[in-house]
Amino acid sequence: MDDFLAISDCSTQQLHELLAESGSLKAFYKSGGRDLCLAGKTLAMLFEKPSLRTRLSFQVAMTDLGGSPIYVKPEDIGGIGKREPVKDIARVLSRYVQGIMARTFEHQTVLDLARYADIPVINALTDWSHPCQAMADVLTVQEHFGRIEGIKIAFIGDGNNVARSLAFAAGKLKMKLVVASPHGYELDADTIRQANAFTPNCTAQVTDPYAAVADADVIYTDTWVSMGQEEEKEKRVRDFAGYAVDAKLVAAAPRHVKIMHCLPAYRGYEITDEVCESPGSILFDQAENRLHFQRALLKKLMA
Ligand code: CP
Ligand code: NVA
Repeated sequence: MDDFLAISDCSTQQLHELLAESGSLKAFYKSGGRDLCLAGKTLAMLFEKPSLRTRLSFQVAMTDLGGSPIYVKPEDIGGIGKREPVKDIARVLSRYVQGIMARTFEHQTVLDLARYADIPVINALTDWSHPCQAMADVLTVQEHFGRIEGIKIAFIGDGNNVARSLAFAAGKLKMKLVVASPHGYELDADTIRQANAFTPNCTAQVTDPYAAVADADVIYTDTWVSMGQEEEKEKRVRDFAGYAVDAKLVAAAPRHVKIMHCLPAYRGYEITDEVCESPGSILFDQAENRLHFQRALLKKLMA
């Protein structure tokens, strides 16, 4: 594994190894252990968008492993691909640091970084996907249900970057994903086809959120207005009416259902405060697992 750009690029075995390593490093660090396998190594972290979880968990993970993270705002370097081409940034960074992680608008930007860098490149969210999030989510599912295979996630809302990475995870790891979205916001047909090529019938698109949650183990949602879509907010809020994860929708799911959200959560829009704070909510286990997955990923790619 040279880069981590999309779950669809990884083999099932690589994903299982990353999950196993995430779990063992989690236990090891919680018991006071330290693995300084990245001593003397540096990760450049390029961000075109805001971040709390991804930025902090990568910074902490890198430090935990004895390495150094360097956070770079686009304005520090005159914009990614603006002051100089992405391919030049990739080659310059390859002479200074041992890894790059990038959060960008266009997915092509991380593909270009990976193509021209001769060090590992990690996708820390693009408009197309959010693979680190989906892997932390799978780790969380495994911890709560004791297994991954056959677990059904009902993703309610926008067929966005997070939904797409969950679809690839479902395909590679034999979970079930049903996405319920209003017309015009479905997960694209190519993603569904690709996920179902990995595991037949693992991913489906519906319009009715109640049908989606009826036999779900997990109800998952994400913002209706992803970073970069702020100007569409009013229209989106109108179009997503009826797709909020509220107590009524949760009551239509099996009693054991867990609630997941990648965060940040916009309470009163895609999810209610009541559901966020309900006993079935595992939002902060998910957020914590970003750190544990990130550690395993950095070790795998950079040690
Ligand atoms: N879930 C997630 O990626 O959060 P941040 O945008 O805060 O990194
Ligand atoms: N879909 C959201 C995820 C935020 C972590 C976005 O791209 O803004």
